[in-house]
Amino acid sequence: MLAAGPAFAQKKPVAERVDSVLALMTLEEKVGQMNQYNGFWNATGPAPAGGDAATKYTHLRNGWVGSVLNVQGVEEVRAMQKVAVEETRLGIPLIFACDVIHGYKTLSPIPLAEAASWDLEAIAQSARHAAEEATAYGLNWTFAPMVDIARDPRWGRIMEGAGEDPYLGSRIAEARVHGFQGDNLGDPTTMAACAKHFVGYGFSEAGRDYNTVDVSEYTLRNVIYPPFQAAKKAGVATFMNSFNTMNGIPATGNQALVEMLKVDWGFEGVLVSDWGSITEMQAHGYAENLKAAAELAALARCDIDMESLAYVQYLAALVREGRVSEDVVNDAVVRILTLKFHLGLMDDPYRYCQRPGSWEPTTSPWSADAQELAEKSAVLLKNNGILPLAKKQAIALVGPMAQEKNSPLGNWRVSSDDFTALSLYEGLVQVRGEKRMTVASGPVFLKGPISFPFEAEINTTDTSGLHAVIKAAREAEIAVLAVGEHGFHSGEARSRMSLHLPGLQEHMIREVLKVQEHVVLVLYAGRPMILPDDITEQVDAILLAWQPGTMGGPAMANLLMGKRSPSGRLPVTFPRSEGQIPLYYGAYNTGRPGPSDAVFWSHYGDGPNSPAYPFGYGLTYSTVTYTATQAKQMGDSIAVQALVKNEGKVAVDEVVQLYTRDHHSRVGVQPVRRLIGFQRLSLKPGEERMVNFSVTADELSVMTSEGERLFEPGTFSFWVAPHSAAGTPATFDWK
Ligand code: GLC
Repeated sequence: MLAAGPAFAQKKPVAERVDSVLALMTLEEKVGQMNQYNGFWNATGPAPAGGDAATKYTHLRNGWVGSVLNVQGVEEVRAMQKVAVEETRLGIPLIFACDVIHGYKTLSPIPLAEAASWDLEAIAQSARHAAEEATAYGLNWTFAPMVDIARDPRWGRIMEGAGEDPYLGSRIAEARVHGFQGDNLGDPTTMAACAKHFVGYGFSEAGRDYNTVDVSEYTLRNVIYPPFQAAKKAGVATFMNSFNTMNGIPATGNQALVEMLKVDWGFEGVLVSDWGSITEMQAHGYAENLKAAAELAALARCDIDMESLAYVQYLAALVREGRVSEDVVNDAVVRILTLKFHLGLMDDPYRYCQRPGSWEPTTSPWSADAQELAEKSAVLLKNNGILPLAKKQAIALVGPMAQEKNSPLGNWRVSSDDFTALSLYEGLVQVRGEKRMTVASGPVFLKGPISFPFEAEINTTDTSGLHAVIKAAREAEIAVLAVGEHGFHSGEARSRMSLHLPGLQEHMIREVLKVQEHVVLVLYAGRPMILPDDITEQVDAILLAWQPGTMGGPAMANLLMGKRSPSGRLPVTFPRSEGQIPLYYGAYNTGRPGPSDAVFWSHYGDGPNSPAYPFGYGLTYSTVTYTATQAKQMGDSIAVQALVKNEGKVAVDEVVQLYTRDHHSRVGVQPVRRLIGFQRLSLKPGEERMVNFSVTADELSVMTSEGERLFEPGTFSFWVAPHSAAGTPATFDWK
């Protein structure tokens, strides 16, 4: 019917075409567009009979479904789209969504690892590649980028974002949105992106997922909102509610929050609930039943109900009862239809089904870039000169991650295939051959299989396999210990009280250290982890691999063998103890910063305030020096610079960071350091470069709790530095 209707008659402006479709729709059909289901059956197979899937199938044929998630493969997409287009009254096509977080089948490093590259172009390219691959499987909407600022590594979803800093997080949000969406959403190799989770999810109390969030307006406006505003400014097509409360009201029913988003910020795209976050307002104790939840979500302008079945059951009735204005529904439907027009689906519902492809992830068109990014993301935390490894050194490659082909894929690999990563062992064989290399995985890491919805028990008793590790380590010239947490130990619903290496790994490392004096740790993690002092002091080197994705093995092997110097910098602080959390570089000075002879200052009696490794930290295979920072007025901005030199014999990439401190602010106290710029530069051996930044008053301005941006002249310090705890500052009085 649509195809013959005015919507398609001529290429009118999208707004007019949307209105002409809206005019054709019944109230139930409008509500249907606001209803999203999980890919609920094998669309190429027979229609489901009975149960939940049958109900959803009936809703689909009634025209009561607007979008679906997790439908896998072009044939499935095509078959389901065919039902929507040919069997419903109006034939409005579906949007097909999925969590394409860091790749589809070819997985780049987890987002927190990508952030450690500080390479915005590479990060944008990674999202671009993810879109190119995912759209070839029929998809056109990803629930990414996750832009939640996170300062608590106990929270498993810290792996999914860009770390603790709002400036870095904002630049990366922009890069990822541009990567996924490109310049034209109608291009069938691009897909709609989604800024999530709106808002504050990363501040879940005690680092426990789905827990309460209670933060000040001041923190919201200066730390948490900026990456969302950056994503909005970058043109992100959609936002997603967060599960948590904000100011005591669940985000999905929080009218004030969404009014800020859609009115103050002027967001014209689509706001989708998180999975079941509408129905969860009952458990929160905000809605007394699902119908009330539907009303509260609709009044809070949540445009799409993901898997609560709230709108589809109650919203039409709520409109007829006058409890929700039809204008609310119309506004949501206009946003959804506009997105469908922009995606090109209204003109060609099978637009994303024209390039069916299937690639072996390790040899796909995107695998080389995924490897390059994994190499740029790894962070060298310690090296006494033992790295890079000598070509023919006799290596004992030991530990649970040595031959792991599944864990390096991380937690968000919903569309990828398990065990498709190249392991560290395979990478080392590629780079140096298998001669003079003994492999021993050691005690089993997990009791039983581990997967997205289930966590496996960790082995803490069965030491079998340890003897082989010790033997291999004793007989080699160097032991490379591949250790860490499993890819499914971080991610959604994976909060942990301990950040230490799970299972028997610390014991294994100590046993190896008894028989081998040359030891390198390769640490696999989706979050900051804590290594005991006795281990970090004894090992010769520590390379943080993160969860490096499909090509992690060759990437880490290239770094270990010196094909490339590590260049990653931490996007998040590594604490010494869980007792320090939350620990982040951009903290306030407090009234008792210390140290002091007396006890009355802000400190612990049983350990230092300082982290194990600070934000921005990372070593290379060379030595890079910085002169003292200089700052001087240049017109209405400040020129800040320092001379950076590669003193060594190895070419390196250096991430030069610019921090500031506003020493006195009536708007509100300011962090002891705040990142306001960075430059990633390549330096040949011996090369030096004057690195210049230009700082404007706006970049030094601060948001008040009331939402006003203010700049106050005064005394500022500036650091051009290699990380957040280094550098010699220049102090400047801005009159
Ligand atoms: C999950 C996550 C969200 C994801 C959605 C769909 O619960 O919170 O990030 O996009 O459901 O899978």
